[in-house]
Amino acid sequence: MLKAKTAIVTGASRGIGLAIARALAREDVRLGLLSRTQPDVGGEFVTCDLADLERIPGAVRTLVERLGTVDFLINNAGTFLEKAVPETQLADWERVLHVNLTAPFLLTREVLPHMIARRQGRIVNIASTSSTQGYLHQSAYCASKHGLLGFGRSLAMEAKPHNVHVHTLCPGGVDTDLIKGTYLGDRLKGQPMINPEDIAAMVLFLLRQPDNIDLAEVVVRRFDPKL
Ligand SMILES: NC(=O)c1ccc[n+]([C@@H]2O[C@H](COP(=O)([O-])OP(=O)(O)OC[C@H]3O[C@@H](n4cnc5c(N)ncnc54)[C@H](OP(=O)(O)O)[C@@H]3O)[C@@H](O)[C@H]2O)c1
Repeated sequence: MLKAKTAIVTGASRGIGLAIARALAREDVRLGLLSRTQPDVGGEFVTCDLADLERIPGAVRTLVERLGTVDFLINNAGTFLEKAVPETQLADWERVLHVNLTAPFLLTREVLPHMIARRQGRIVNIASTSSTQGYLHQSAYCASKHGLLGFGRSLAMEAKPHNVHVHTLCPGGVDTDLIKGTYLGDRLKGQPMINPEDIAAMVLFLLRQPDNIDLAEVVVRRFDPKL
């Protein structure tokens, strides 16, 4: 059912994005990949720093041209910041907001008209449990992820009449390098976390939904029978 479809995946060079790209590749989905370093998975690749907003539209257009069509857009790339508000530099704040929120907007702005024209497509935004709750010293990250959830909710209303589906996936702690070296990372060290492959499986589940089902938001936490 996914065979011969096309997907743009951001941030597939490691972590959750790499697991998603590999899972899609196994289903013979043709990939368009966007990140600063080249992912270890086959597909069209355009190098792009998503904090550099001016570069994004051109990079996406190149990928769309190479792929021909885009069935799926997976806005996965993200960056983390753990800082108290008085210590947060404007440049740090802007980098987090650019990569986590403005980049998904710019990617969507390029891809959505193609999906609308074909009356088909799915956009998956990888948000976070930080989209629905606050965490200590994560003001920029939480603001960006709350924003991404709000963006997805509004986008879904706009896309719906055109048969384009929007999904927001909100994972809890996933075993990647995202929070490595932070206080949170140290605190969670040794604790069981969600595997990136489980998030990838969830993304494929969303992409396989029939058109008459609306699965807009999914929160995924690790199931711990002791908690
Ligand atoms: N890990 C978690 O606990 C967790 C929980 C909930 C949600 N999430 C979300 O899941 C997504 C993936 O995170 P992850 O855990 O897989 O993190 P990760 O292992 O650190 O990977 C982040 C990915 O995003 C890309 N990226 C980061 N900054 C970029 C930039 N400026 N320009 C282009 N690409 C950039 C990286 O590629 P390059 O470095 O090659 O550019 C990399 O492929 C993020 O949106 C994150 O917020 C993660």
